[in-house]
Amino acid sequence: MKRFFALGGFLVLQAGVVMYGPSLLAADPPPFLKIMEDNFSGKKNIHRAVKKSLEADNADWAGITTLTKQYSTAALQVTQHAKTKPEKGESKSWEKLSMQLGAHAKELDAAVTKKDKDKSLAAIEKLHETCEACHENHR
Ligand code: HEC
Repeated sequence: MKRFFALGGFLVLQAGVVMYGPSLLAADPPPFLKIMEDNFSGKKNIHRAVKKSLEADNADWAGITTLTKQYSTAALQVTQHAKTKPEKGESKSWEKLSMQLGAHAKELDAAVTKKDKDKSLAAIEKLHETCEACHENHR
């Protein structure tokens, strides 16, 4: 069944390529700064929004799930930059921290799927440490 959907997704992608040109096939991530701006900056900061919702007395799991879906996509896009050379700092650290964001976003996603508040908050904390470490070394 999974395979079937994967194939379906592939065909949709193919159709997209025909309509919009080859840029879709490469599925290049947005530029790094844009990922930060669109997902983690100011009012659009989904990290803060997820944390706040988790800390609320009556956690709105549907709302949190929508946010963590976006979070997963953003983290995946960050991992797609793992092999690029950072503007500042060492490539090794950059790769490690990019991949770490992806791994912790997966933990968050799994914990939210189980509606496990403690585990979700633990994942949020690890994600936070990853944001901070990367900014310290590479921003
Ligand atoms: C792999 C490294 C890395 C990780 C992980 C990372 N960041 Fe960043 N972030 C950067 C870099 C580098 C910049 C500066 C980019 C530039 O100016 O081109 C930046 C910029 C930003 C900005 C400024 C965007 C703007 O509008 O100018 C915000 C806000 C931000 N990050 C939030 C976060 C949050 C929140 C997280 C964790 C959920 C996070 N970042 C994780 C490397 C990272």
